[in-house]
Amino acid sequence: MSLAGDSKQLEVFIKRKAFRAATGEVREVLRDFTLTLDVGKIYALVGPSGYGKTTLLRIIIGLDRDFEGRVTLPPETKIGMVFQEPRLLPWRSVLDNLKLAAPQANEVDLVKIADDLGVGDHLRNFPGELSLGQARRVALARAFAIKPNLLVLDEPFVSLDAVLARRLADELVALVEQTQVTTLLVTHDIDEAVRLADHIILLGHRPAEIVGNIDVTLPRRAMTADYAAKTKGEIGAILAENAV
Ligand SMILES: Nc1ncnc2c1ncn2[C@@H]1O[C@H](COP(=O)(O)OP(=O)(O)OP(=O)(O)O)[C@@H](O)[C@H]1O
Ligand SMILES: [Mg+2]
Repeated sequence: MSLAGDSKQLEVFIKRKAFRAATGEVREVLRDFTLTLDVGKIYALVGPSGYGKTTLLRIIIGLDRDFEGRVTLPPETKIGMVFQEPRLLPWRSVLDNLKLAAPQANEVDLVKIADDLGVGDHLRNFPGELSLGQARRVALARAFAIKPNLLVLDEPFVSLDAVLARRLADELVALVEQTQVTTLLVTHDIDEAVRLADHIILLGHRPAEIVGNIDVTLPRRAMTADYAAKTKGEIGAILAENAV
């Protein structure tokens, strides 16, 4: 399958994904779950805690192969991943963390990405010398360093103050728009989802299924308070209806 002329970046079908807990109890997290992402769009995945969002992302990026179903990616797909925690190598400098993720990249490009994300002054620092916000920026820079065509982000701005979260989100959007990378972002923040995404996928029920598929029809730059409020209301109602 070639990416040229093929607008689908990713197709996921999960017939069944279950975990066996230490007690022996088997919990089905995903069943008959399908997801298709088109090239170059930003998708937000929103759903209650414990409903399988991280599980789904781990399956998509190939970290968890213990499921029934299939994930279809074009063969040349390069995935950039940002986990719920920054997960930097603590004994390597910021620059070395970037270099290790993207050994083919040249240093000028890596410095530029770090600059774009506001951590260009910290390239010689170690992760332990960074604030959480700075570490999150480095984790984003590391994901971009590999020049991904699929970017997968698991609550990348969680536990940051609102101003910083918003600034980082804007920086993310600028980079995504520059690079046209297909993006799947997990967030609990409905405001963030409406502000950032082209499409919002809502998860509900257990095992999880898609209970809502919202197209954000206004372009990001033209977003109005009225439209955002209406869309958030729609999302809140769907999530409340499908919380169990
Ligand atoms: N390694 C594991 N072993 C057993 N159960 C697991 C494991 N990983 C996840 N689970 C269970 O699978 C379900 C989904 O977990 P997952 O981490 O995907 O949720 P989530 O939607 O990402 O939640 P959150 O929003 O809190 O991050 C949870 O009920 C969790 O207890
Ligand atoms: Mg999670």
